[in-house]
Formats: sequence, C-alpha cells, structure tokens
Amino acid sequence: MKTDSVVQNVPFTGRKRSLLDDARRDRESGSSASPGPSLGGDCCVFEEKNGKVSLHVLFALSNEKNSGFFKAGKVFETFEAKLLHVESRPRKSKNTSDLEFFIKCEIHSSDIDVFINSLKRVAEDVRTVSEAKAPWFPRKIRDLDRCNHLITKFDPDLDQDHPGFSDKEYRKRRTFISELAFNYKQGEPLPRVEYTPEEIGTWRQVYRTLTSIYPTHACRQFQDGLQQLEKECGYAEDNIPQLRDVSAFLKEKTGFQLRPVAGLLSARDFLASLAFRVFQCTQYIRHPSAPMHSPEPDCCHELLGHIPMLTDNEFAQFSQEIGLASLGASDEDIERLSTLYWFTVEFGLCKQNESVKAYGAGLLSSYGELLYALSNEPEYKPFNPAEAAAQPYQDETYQPIYFVSESFEDAKAKLRQFSSTIERPFTIRYDPITSSLDVLDQPGKIQKALGQMHEDLKTLYHALESLGQN
Ligand SMILES: [Fe+2]
Repeated sequence: MKTDSVVQNVPFTGRKRSLLDDARRDRESGSSASPGPSLGGDCCVFEEKNGKVSLHVLFALSNEKNSGFFKAGKVFETFEAKLLHVESRPRKSKNTSDLEFFIKCEIHSSDIDVFINSLKRVAEDVRTVSEAKAPWFPRKIRDLDRCNHLITKFDPDLDQDHPGFSDKEYRKRRTFISELAFNYKQGEPLPRVEYTPEEIGTWRQVYRTLTSIYPTHACRQFQDGLQQLEKECGYAEDNIPQLRDVSAFLKEKTGFQLRPVAGLLSARDFLASLAFRVFQCTQYIRHPSAPMHSPEPDCCHELLGHIPMLTDNEFAQFSQEIGLASLGASDEDIERLSTLYWFTVEFGLCKQNESVKAYGAGLLSSYGELLYALSNEPEYKPFNPAEAAAQPYQDETYQPIYFVSESFEDAKAKLRQFSSTIERPFTIRYDPITSSLDVLDQPGKIQKALGQMHEDLKTLYHALESLGQN
C-alpha cells in the first residue's frame, strides 16, 4: 500500500520538539505540570488544601430513628464540616421510607476517622466515596489561562543548537511575539501580528516547497481544508494568516478555536486544551537561516501542519477524544497519550483510494520527512492505539515506523476503546453549550445528563417521523 515516491536526498536536520519528552520528564520528576492542588470543582477528587480535605460521604437514616437527621447534623456541626453539596433519595433496600444521603463536605484531614466513627453511631451504612487523588485539570474553558506551563529547552535563548541562538534581533522579536501570548486571557480577541517582509519571505519559501508535494502526499481532508483556508482565511505564499481569522473560521467549521501560546507547552497542559476544542498555537516564525527546519513549534508548523486537518469534523473529534482522555490521568498515562498523539496527530498516515497519505502535522510541515514517510523505506503498521502508545520514539532521525489508520472514524472508535482502559476515579462529559466539563460523580448529575439525552432522542425521533411522512 505504499506509494512509489522516490525519497529525495533530504537529510534529517535536527531534533524535534516532542510532547513525549515533556511527559516523560514530568513523570520522572514526579511533578505533573498543573497548577494544583486545586479544588473549587465538584468531583470526587480528594486532595488536601490548607489541612482540609473534600470528602464524599454516603449514609442512610432509618425512619424509626426520627432524631437521626438532627443527630447527624450535630456531627457535622461538631466537626465544623463545611457542607458543599447535599442529596437525598429513598433507600433501595429494607424499609422504603428510609432515606439515603449523599453529602460532600470539607473537613480537617486529621478529623476524618473520628468524624466517620461519630456518624456511624447515629446513621447506618456510612461510606466514603472515591477517595482517590487525581491531578488538577481545567473544568471551564477559562481555566485554560492556568494551562501555561512551558518547556523552554528548545527556545533560542537556551538552546545553543537553535538557528536563532546567536541572533539577538531574532530573539528579541520572538520574545515580543511570545509576550502577546503570555498576556492573553481566554475570551479576549486573539492578538494580531504585523509580520515583517523578512518573516513573510521565510513563510513564502516554506509554503511554496510544501504545497508542491501536498497534491501527491497529503490526505484528501488536508487538501480540502487547505483549499478552504486559502479561500477564506488569507492562506497564500505572500501572507501569513492571522490566528484571529483562522480561529473564527474553525469555530464555524468544527467548533475548534485557537489560543496563542508563548512556546512549547507541557504535554498535560497541551492535551487538556484539546478537551475543550482549543488548539494552542505559536505565532512567531522560525529563523530565516533554516526555513525548512525548526527545533520548536512555530507558525509554519501550526498553520500549515495542523490547521487544515482541524477543519475536518472526524479529525476534530479524534483530537478532542485524546484531550478528554488526558484529564486527571496519571503521569504514566499522560506519557502513553503523548506517544499516541505523536504517532497520530503529528506523524499519522491513513489509507485513501488504495494508497497511503499523510495526515500528521509533523509530516505535513516537513518536506524531507513527508517524502521519506511515503517512500518504501519505513515500516508501516496498522493503527492500534495500545501499540502506538507504547512504540519507542525516535527524535534524532525520521521515524522507522508509522501507523496507518483505515479512516478517522475507525481511529476514533479504537481510541475510545483505548481511553476506557485509562484508570480514573471519575467519568467526564463535555458540555459544548457551556464549554465546560461535567464530572459525573453524583447521581443527580447523571440523571440530568440522561434527561438531556432523552430530549435529544425525542428530537431525532420526531425528525425521523417527519421524514417518514414525507
Ligand atoms: Fe505539532
């Protein structure tokens, strides 16, 4: 199924930035790149803050103990437990007039044992729920303002191998553009950058070179997306598109939006933004001395490599699924998801009309590796998320192995299956109306979600009925 493209002599020109490295480093250092600990949310996450913990407790009160309710209340009062949420429902077993209570409260961590024992004296079937810890993650789209942990090892101020390392003017300009992202807050208009003639010259060179091989090497969805971007968003050799225009276009197409970022983000923060259909984009451009290579992400990689694919609904959904799977995941699972991201969103191939085409941004923004990937040299494997997530990764040369998806729909189904193997003490549901995440950790929330689903099903049923009548 490989095409017969001849690999031109385009050597690998340097290291690549990698989410994998970031995730691995986070795991080894034992410090998840997140602002935690932070509660303020409403899930079963059980973390300590200023000596206090958030506790979920279930207990039942017998109808025969009429004073049980007040006695239980006295226990909460005695331990100065701050009530955060209270629910009650009929108890399922025994006497149906008994009530079962679900209470979320904040209590001093040293009081937990004696608090629970006191409660057991006045109530029945006392249990605490899901006392597992999980790393902090954003719940609302504006929480992405806190997902700003940068990996600075590839930036030109620190990396001696960066082509711009000894160019003070370049570094100053890059810092100026990065500052725009540092100061950005979710919901503000995206900053515009007036690119210089030299920067546009670099873009032109990259644009011409890459677009010359897209017709034979890029997948259909990428080519369709690029065509639309050329028509609607100012994609052209002589113009570097503005994130604001591209973001508005994507929002209408697939619900994705862009956010400026000052450099390479930590894996956890980058993946978390995908859960909200937010793609974090750099705005500065690579050094003019090396137009076909950048050790760090730049606007050529983002705008040419990533954005055209984000105009496709199936691919957008696939990207969000990886993001959702990452929320609250362990550092080990973040590393697996970053590897999976690497072999799909960055270096993925797919079958199309009896041949293999590229959809990964790392390929579609690299002339040399794009030619190599679709030659007879590398090994192809059918896409399998568990295998891709564990595949050793090469950053000193082109990949020896690429994973080939049957279709994005198929890849999405396999990814969902894989995500269900990631252990988390809660289930998450994305609410596109409020751009927020519901942690389904309380019976009431699950009921509410089922109610919404029921309304949607009724709408679809009526639509089908109308079609039948016509
Ligand atoms: Fe990328």
